[in-house]
Amino acid sequence: MPEGGAVTPVVLVTPRLHLRPLSAADAPVLAAYRADPAVAAFQGWTLPYTPQHAHALIAEMAGKQLGDAGWVQYGVSLPGGALVGDVALRTHGAQAEFGVTLAPSAHGRGYATEAGAAVIAHAFGTLGLHRLHASIDPRNVPVARLLVRLGFRHEGTLVEAYEHRGAWTDDALYGLLRREWASPD
Ligand SMILES: CC(C)(COP(=O)(O)OP(=O)(O)OC[C@H]1O[C@@H](n2cnc3c(N)ncnc32)[C@H](O)[C@@H]1OP(=O)(O)O)[C@@H](O)C(=O)NCCC(=O)NCCS
Repeated sequence: MPEGGAVTPVVLVTPRLHLRPLSAADAPVLAAYRADPAVAAFQGWTLPYTPQHAHALIAEMAGKQLGDAGWVQYGVSLPGGALVGDVALRTHGAQAEFGVTLAPSAHGRGYATEAGAAVIAHAFGTLGLHRLHASIDPRNVPVARLLVRLGFRHEGTLVEAYEHRGAWTDDALYGLLRREWASPD
């Protein structure tokens, strides 16, 4: 451990993106895309999503690394530093729930696929997790397509399993095992 006990944060680098801890400078962009009704439609955060919510999330994530217990959000940025979205793992034991959100301007370029593949490789290859899973509203077609592209299997759908902004909502469950990731065919 470096002097003073500070842990050097893990940064995942892909051909087009950096996945790195969120910083205070990210708050305006984070708040803007999380406040977008289209981006928030199937997400659990409170609306309206304000800059104060963004600052609170960034403060909560300070010092956390992907793989630490509970939800850890990492920023997805272009190499110059501009935030385009965030990825998350909620690690519990040898398993973790995966999530990703991109700003609308970053949709349709393969960024979520690229970032997701890097998180999966980190989770299985570096952290040695056994299983990744995701839980989505089945009406969220782009994320369903993304999960399948990343190798996740649709394992079933719980019918009207939770209340989301006043409406009973289905919960589609996806899973991916380390051995399936290591030997995809
Ligand atoms: C989920 C979400 C991140 C997916 O974004 P996305 O843009 O569909 O996914 P990608 O970034 O992987 O881009 C894939 C698309 O880019 C296209 N694309 C363009 N250039 C590409 C490239 N160089 N490489 C790969 N794909 C490329 C692909 O063809 C694909 O388009 P298609 O879906 O029409 O076939 C986005 O819809 C989102 O942020 N939604 C709101 C938040 C949310 O609900 N998150 C889910 C919580 S788990």
